[in-house]
Amino acid sequence: MDLQLSEEHQMIRDAARDFAQNEIAKVAADYDESGEFPYETIKKMGALGFMGIEVPEEYGGAGMDTMAYVLALEEINKVDAAHGTIMSVNNSLFCYGILHFGTEAQKRNYVTPVASGQKVGAYSLTEPMSGSDAATMKSSAVREGDYYVINGTKSWVTSGPAAHFIVLFTMTAPQLGHRGITAFIVETDQPGFQRGRTEDKLGIRASATCEIHFEDYRCPVENRLGAEGEGFKIAMAVLDAGRIGIAAQALGIAEAAYEASLQYARQREAFGGPIGRLQGIQWKIADMKCRIEASRLLTYQAALAKQAAKQSGARYTTEASIAKLFASETAMFCAHQAVQIHAGMGYSKELPVERYFRDAKITEIYEGTSEIQRMVIARNELGLR
Ligand code: CAA
Repeated sequence: MDLQLSEEHQMIRDAARDFAQNEIAKVAADYDESGEFPYETIKKMGALGFMGIEVPEEYGGAGMDTMAYVLALEEINKVDAAHGTIMSVNNSLFCYGILHFGTEAQKRNYVTPVASGQKVGAYSLTEPMSGSDAATMKSSAVREGDYYVINGTKSWVTSGPAAHFIVLFTMTAPQLGHRGITAFIVETDQPGFQRGRTEDKLGIRASATCEIHFEDYRCPVENRLGAEGEGFKIAMAVLDAGRIGIAAQALGIAEAAYEASLQYARQREAFGGPIGRLQGIQWKIADMKCRIEASRLLTYQAALAKQAAKQSGARYTTEASIAKLFASETAMFCAHQAVQIHAGMGYSKELPVERYFRDAKITEIYEGTSEIQRMVIARNELGLR
């Protein structure tokens, strides 16, 4: 794997780092406390191209590659994972799916405003009784002439409270199981669409999440994404892309926890010197460092696989799941060690370490739990389903 970053890659990484440090760092704790959606910073990120890094310029994006996306996401998440989540949903779960499976009109009407940061996008697969077993959804769309009439409830929609548009997966032929699922692009200002309560979450609190309800929502046929029955495969392919974003997010959180720990271990004194001289602390530092380096290699490898797939059309499911699994468990490990190294100060809201700890957990849950990633990796390795 060639890890020499090009000038362009260094430029986007530095731009994301500067933006995160100058614009996000000062507001992150307040947004975390209030759970408010950070509209202002998200708009600014859109203007800088961060909401559609891989989206071609003609559709409002930055026209860069997957490595650029991962590098930028890592830097944003190093400062605040809630902003990172919103960025990742807009880029991967919303724009990517429409760019790959959408019509020209869908790309112009929906990707352009989201990639440029004017509007917010979301992705809705999960339902109250359908999470890891994603094909068991109960919501439905029934065709009536030039429309589909959509009914049902979806849950855990990240960016749902703020989204203007949502890529929705719902049943058009329940008797066909996963082959009866179809994808649609829905507009949230239309009759029949309603938001439920916003979830009061442990972490990534400013990346608002809610239930959504459809009651005889009329979706024009031209807003169907792909063919009838292709929805499950679209959902899975989009999650392959999304999981690389979550790996980059987890890497950023792990690095933040690690750097805070290094600084604290050099400054904090106990038993006659800095605690970094104590073997118990050194072992934690070494374990964190090794896992972070491994996570970075796996995440960049998955990014290169996704980039190569743009030419070859090959699937990069396994690379994405490996990167997400390892990096998310690394984020949780590092955040846990960081709290322990900081001890009382790690438990205090005076420092962001406790936020890293709360934010890290979601990376082991959303876009497929660690258990689901293990299942995907093993099934692909064994060639069994
Ligand atoms: N790409 C393309 N096609 C795929 C695919 C992929 N990555 N994975 C599976 N498929 C295809 C299969 O080839 C199969 O095709 P056929 O119809 O031709 O047979 C079909 O999809 C069904 O595949 P499986 O039999 O493997 O399906 P399954 O029901 O056993 O489920 C699963 C597989 C991996 C467990 C899947 O349900 C899954 O990923 N679950 C987790 C769901 C998830 O990640 N949810 C996250 C919600 S979104 C979220 O969190 C976002 C957010 O808010 C930020």
